Amino acid sequence: MKILIVGDVFSKLGRTSFEKNVKKIKEKEKIDFIIVNGENTSHGRGMNENHYRWYMDQGVDVITLGNHAYHNKALFNIIDDVNNIVRPYNFPAGSPGKGYTTNNLKGLKITVLQVIGKVFMNQDNYDPFKAAQEVLDNVKSDIYICDFHGEATSEKIAFAYAFDGKIQVIFGTHTHVQTNDARILEKGTAYITDVGMTGALEGVIGVKKEIIIDRYLNDGMQRFSPQNTGQTQFSAILVEIDENSKKAANIDIINVIE
Ligand SMILES: [Fe+2]
Ligand SMILES: [Fe+2]
Repeated sequence: MKILIVGDVFSKLGRTSFEKNVKKIKEKEKIDFIIVNGENTSHGRGMNENHYRWYMDQGVDVITLGNHAYHNKALFNIIDDVNNIVRPYNFPAGSPGKGYTTNNLKGLKITVLQVIGKVFMNQDNYDPFKAAQEVLDNVKSDIYICDFHGEATSEKIAFAYAFDGKIQVIFGTHTHVQTNDARILEKGTAYITDVGMTGALEGVIGVKKEIIIDRYLNDGMQRFSPQNTGQTQFSAILVEIDENSKKAANIDIINVIE
């Protein structure tokens, strides 16, 4: 089976690029399952209900979130009612939403989970390694796919080795910059440190570059505003799972600049 995983869709340009490229890829490849990181979908911060429905219209199966999970309060209207929005499993106990979801596809159980890193991130979240092990111990599944939402490449790589052969697909999100290290690890896990961002090419990870440069040069306090003109980048991976061995057979990077 073929699984398309799209990195952080950022605001208007991200949504435009997502719609166009997912349609094209679906026409070309036989995609069975689509996962998207949606934490920046609505104006760069969180996701509202309309954008959730917009993803559903395009055949998205699971939406993962991240540190921006709750920045758009409109999501609270649906997050506990739908079964395909996944926020970090290791958020503090009692956080709205769920940390994993299990789907049936071609006779196989597929569990998508998300964990959030500790390095350079909010320390209120508990250990992502223990969290992932908890899901593996408690949720029976044929295939596990994990979004590791983290800042530090070292933490993500260590996590991938720790769960090599136990989680079939581990992909990083959050940095908004695609890494060039997609590969199948020794025990069969398909891995990439970061899928990258889908959104504006000319910006600082989605935000108007002038605002961020001003912050560094002049301690500027201009309000956050997404870059919404210029070229776009579409960042994704395409993973193939062998349905008989239940192992990852291939991982390819997709990066479209237009
Ligand atoms: Fe993001
Ligand atoms: Fe993030």
